[in-house]
Amino acid sequence: MKKLLVVLMVLIAASFAFAAGGGQQAAGGGSSGGVTRGMDRKIVMGYSQIGAESEWRTACTNSVKAAAEEWNIELIFSDAQQKQENQMQAIRSFIRQKVDIIGFTPVVETGWDAILQEIKDAGIPVICVDRQVTLAAGKRQEDYITAFIGSNMQAEAKKAVQWVVNYMKTTGNTKKKDDGSVDINIAILEGTTGSGAQVGRTEGWNEEIAKYPNYKTIFRQTGNFTRAEGQQVMEAWMKSPQANDIDILFAQNDDMAIGAIDAINAAGKKPGSDIIIVSIDAVKGAFDAMLRKELNATIECNPLLGPQVMDTAVKILKKQSITWWVESEEGQFDWTNAETAYPTRQY
Ligand code: AHR
Repeated sequence: MKKLLVVLMVLIAASFAFAAGGGQQAAGGGSSGGVTRGMDRKIVMGYSQIGAESEWRTACTNSVKAAAEEWNIELIFSDAQQKQENQMQAIRSFIRQKVDIIGFTPVVETGWDAILQEIKDAGIPVICVDRQVTLAAGKRQEDYITAFIGSNMQAEAKKAVQWVVNYMKTTGNTKKKDDGSVDINIAILEGTTGSGAQVGRTEGWNEEIAKYPNYKTIFRQTGNFTRAEGQQVMEAWMKSPQANDIDILFAQNDDMAIGAIDAINAAGKKPGSDIIIVSIDAVKGAFDAMLRKELNATIECNPLLGPQVMDTAVKILKKQSITWWVESEEGQFDWTNAETAYPTRQY
């Protein structure tokens, strides 16, 4: 009985330690020998990922882990489960472990000033991946973050506006075409409030759509970048008295669009023709929906950032010059090119 109690206590203590580190696991190159590609020793990277909210995020995580393996970098990977405090804990534990370099995707833009100062004081370089941060007035990201690797979120949303306006002018939905004299009513599913992706895509969309005053937003709510919440929010909109007025759905990621498509079908409307739907990411699930003619278009956001992260890490540690942000090159897909592109998609 005593032995059993001791084992139980050890297990409980171990699970607390695991939680405090934000659920860290060795991944990628593991801790076995060899040297990192391009280095004369094996390097250690602490990486704080925000979670697994979408198909895109899973592809991003897989890319980071596979690239660490390829470069033979020891990766201490931590999943923050969408909580900023878990990211802080993980990063502080990376500092304590004296990792060579830190990579992280900030779940939200603000609140990072203190921890970035701690990383700087410890002399550890840091790569921000996918989402940027906003620091207190007068502080520049470039003074705290060694490199940023990710997409231009504003530009993605602007491309979405251009696609929508062109489609409404040339084709339209089952109710109307945009001849300039009618209102085009939009519902917007936003991502995690305060995240770089939500802030950037909202700014980009708002700025571009303002050029077309007959495009009116009638619904706007967060779906937290998840399929389940995209579906829930759309279900509520489809039950509202304004449901029939929705001409366009802009979802800030594919997962929310896919969830919303289920809700539109359940309400007896046709996604892709009664309601024109455009989203961002270009994951395989979006291609499936485009081939079913339920999603009209998706703007690409590249999650395969792992190789660029590892390559940049090595350059930083070798004190070679780097470009602070090399924007990802991205395409856009709709019913005209989805079928041809589908077999070549990697995520
Ligand atoms: O930050 C990138 C966004 O986060 C992707 O568009 C979305 O799918 C993800 O969860």
